Amino acid sequence: MKNIKQMLLLPLAAAAMTAQAAEINMVSGATGKDLEFLKERAKIWEAETGHTFNVVAMPSSTTDQFALYRQWLAAGNADVDVYQTDVIWAPQLADQFVDLTRHMSDLVGDHFPSIIESQTVNGKLVAMPAFTDAPALYYRKDLLDKYGKSVPKTWAELEATAKEIMDKERAAGNSDLWGFVFQGNAYEGLTCDALEWVKSYGGGQIVEPDGTISVNNPQAIAALERAKGWVGTIAPDGVLAYQEEESRGVWQLGNAVFMRNWPYAYSLGNSGDSAVKDKFDVAPLPQGDGPNARSAATLGGWNLAVSKYSANQDAAISLVRFLSSTEHQKANAVELSKLPTIVSLYDDADVKREQPIIPRWKNVFLNAVPRPSAPTKVKYNEVSSLFWSAVHDTLSGNGSAADNLEELEAELEELRGSAW
Ligand code: GLC
Repeated sequence: MKNIKQMLLLPLAAAAMTAQAAEINMVSGATGKDLEFLKERAKIWEAETGHTFNVVAMPSSTTDQFALYRQWLAAGNADVDVYQTDVIWAPQLADQFVDLTRHMSDLVGDHFPSIIESQTVNGKLVAMPAFTDAPALYYRKDLLDKYGKSVPKTWAELEATAKEIMDKERAAGNSDLWGFVFQGNAYEGLTCDALEWVKSYGGGQIVEPDGTISVNNPQAIAALERAKGWVGTIAPDGVLAYQEEESRGVWQLGNAVFMRNWPYAYSLGNSGDSAVKDKFDVAPLPQGDGPNARSAATLGGWNLAVSKYSANQDAAISLVRFLSSTEHQKANAVELSKLPTIVSLYDDADVKREQPIIPRWKNVFLNAVPRPSAPTKVKYNEVSSLFWSAVHDTLSGNGSAADNLEELEAELEELRGSAW
């Protein structure tokens, strides 16, 4: 029999739940199976809270999302309660989101401090982490074995191995095979790839943490010239229009020896309908040449922010607590191979068994290179857009890397003015 306290409290709690039931609209880029999975999982939150969840699919390109969201937020749009935000956006959109500090104080300690820091602007917690990102070199184990090759540690090795395997396979009739696919479109993804090339050559990180513009240097030039050599040789010309999903498309059909992509491609590549299921593995990206050469991975990741213009902020905050929780991040890790931001999940036995890339990628992400969004603050988007344009021009044969980086340096200096 229920005790008297429960009998009195239960109807009250139920009444309170219906009185406050809210419909929460969230926007999120649609990649792979993300949104179907999110809708399914959100049913747990709906049942727990009595609220309703809607997710509106957005373009998968972070650049396209950013342009839309910035417009909506500037117009005080009240239709969207929760935004899924890229790790680089916090300083630019901080004023438009609710300060989550006091609402998450019991949860932030579970996350890697560096990620919480990336989402904190002038003491305000702008967004809660949903997952982090650090790319991998995907390679075809079967093809490397067939030709007796080892996993490339330098870009020069990758180039040689990609070319040899591609040429021999094509000669044997595998005419659709390419050596390497990556993100060559003119958008934020190219900033990520090219930052890796430049950093892997010891060429700095475009704008350094202290605000110095460093991008015009011989190592950065060497890195971009090498990447230019891939287009039309080991990579298709079409790579100049590829984002993550186009690269994954080619890869998952079995038409590439190597691919640069984020961990989400790991679970999809091993799914039932994938031609590369059980035929591939991952390694850290190759390094360049020169005294400061290293393997470099750009730090990515997505977060959850509550709009200042939401009429249902309490319910929106409760959704953000759910979607950033250990329980949900574990599901995301196990099902979608998304890297958690919760420290303990890297030692979780289920995560390790289902997605071995995750524990292996802890150090890659902890050593990942941030894009210069902290030092360039509200100007980051423009900095990035000038950078990816200079890189895209170089890859397309519009000017040499040296000329394009010299011009970029001047443009960045003008954009900075006396301070960022
Ligand atoms: C991934 C990363 C994100 C990055 C984007 C670029 O989604 O998580 O941080 O900006 O790729 O395409």
